[in-house]
Amino acid sequence: MNQRVQVSVPPIPFIDVGAQRRRLGRTIDDAIARVTTHCQFIQGPEVVEFENALAAFCGARYAVGCASGTDALMLVLMAKGIGPGDAVICPAFTFCATAEVVALVGATPVFADVDAVTFNLDAASVARAAVAARRHGLAPKAVIPVDLFGLPADYVAISAVAEAEGLFVLDDAAQGFGATYKGRKVGTLAPATATSFFPAKPLGCYGDGGAVLTDDPALVDVLTSLRVHGQGSDKYDNVRIGMTSRLDTIQAAVLIEKLKIFSDEIIAREQVARRYSADLKDVLIVPFVPDGLTSVWAQYTVRLKPGQRDGFAAMLKARGIPTAVYYSRPLHRLKAYCQFPMDNNGLPVTDRLAQEVISLPMHAYIDASTQDRVIEAVRVALKPQA
Ligand SMILES: Cc1ncc(COP(=O)(O)O)c(C=O)c1O
Repeated sequence: MNQRVQVSVPPIPFIDVGAQRRRLGRTIDDAIARVTTHCQFIQGPEVVEFENALAAFCGARYAVGCASGTDALMLVLMAKGIGPGDAVICPAFTFCATAEVVALVGATPVFADVDAVTFNLDAASVARAAVAARRHGLAPKAVIPVDLFGLPADYVAISAVAEAEGLFVLDDAAQGFGATYKGRKVGTLAPATATSFFPAKPLGCYGDGGAVLTDDPALVDVLTSLRVHGQGSDKYDNVRIGMTSRLDTIQAAVLIEKLKIFSDEIIAREQVARRYSADLKDVLIVPFVPDGLTSVWAQYTVRLKPGQRDGFAAMLKARGIPTAVYYSRPLHRLKAYCQFPMDNNGLPVTDRLAQEVISLPMHAYIDASTQDRVIEAVRVALKPQA
């Protein structure tokens, strides 16, 4: 019989939402109780208060709350009039919502490749994707860079291509809100930014929620109409086709409290990431943060050698350490998205990363001894066999 070492340590959480809940304690209960007392569950005063605080946090002029990060992306595409016959360029190495919204408005997602080091959209591939879109008879209208795993995309390079190609830039900051790029905060790096408050995000609420950040008052007017069925002077004066996509007052109340500690949490996440990188850089490829940028570490994602990942994940699991793979199947390999066009050179970097990446437990409240357990397990799993 195999002599297996049984390790009987309790499993650790991948993201510990409960640790933050314990820190916030009564402040969250009180904030929710205020809403259940005034009963303005839709568009209550907390919504505007939160929108103002969110815009102030990142330096954008406006924030428009909505029901999810997916809706935030879609509302912007709708507001820009993007639809059938249009192409929107986006990475395939992302969560499906980035491309899903493009298809939902009737336009066509066109996939571009990512950079092997930052995992973010490669500007040269965006230019090739625009050529591919035209070859398919589509009009390239927008590009959606994703701030993958919390690191801002290369906005200088992407904006230059966008200007040359006439593309609107919509930042998918569902994972990146709280990060910075050359002294500017995410929320101000593109003409419109969409973010998500899904509970596991760096700034998450207690359900679904999202927001658009922009400096453009005309865009805000259309977004606020679209999120309430295309309302005009009132909600029964419908001037365009819209949807129901408001940020619930209770979620806004929760977010007001969470935003107060967000800067603190960003510092803590950075410390956790630095410690991982310092202790693991000799055994695997740790994340790279270019000079002048910061990540908000939505995920701490490393690269392994081809073929190592399954065994590695199993060995960590046996020691009570969860891992996750974002994303083992890039969008152009999925049934719902495989028919869409892409960069004529294909997406070789995306395909390779999909085989090699794996994310380790990451949140602001991992204590040193828990992180030591993860680090030790990683090092043991990667130790060359004698
Ligand atoms: C990159 C990206 N875009 C969009 C979304 C969609 O956000 P939501 O779940 O709030 O709709 C997510 C959520 O995981 C995401 O990671």
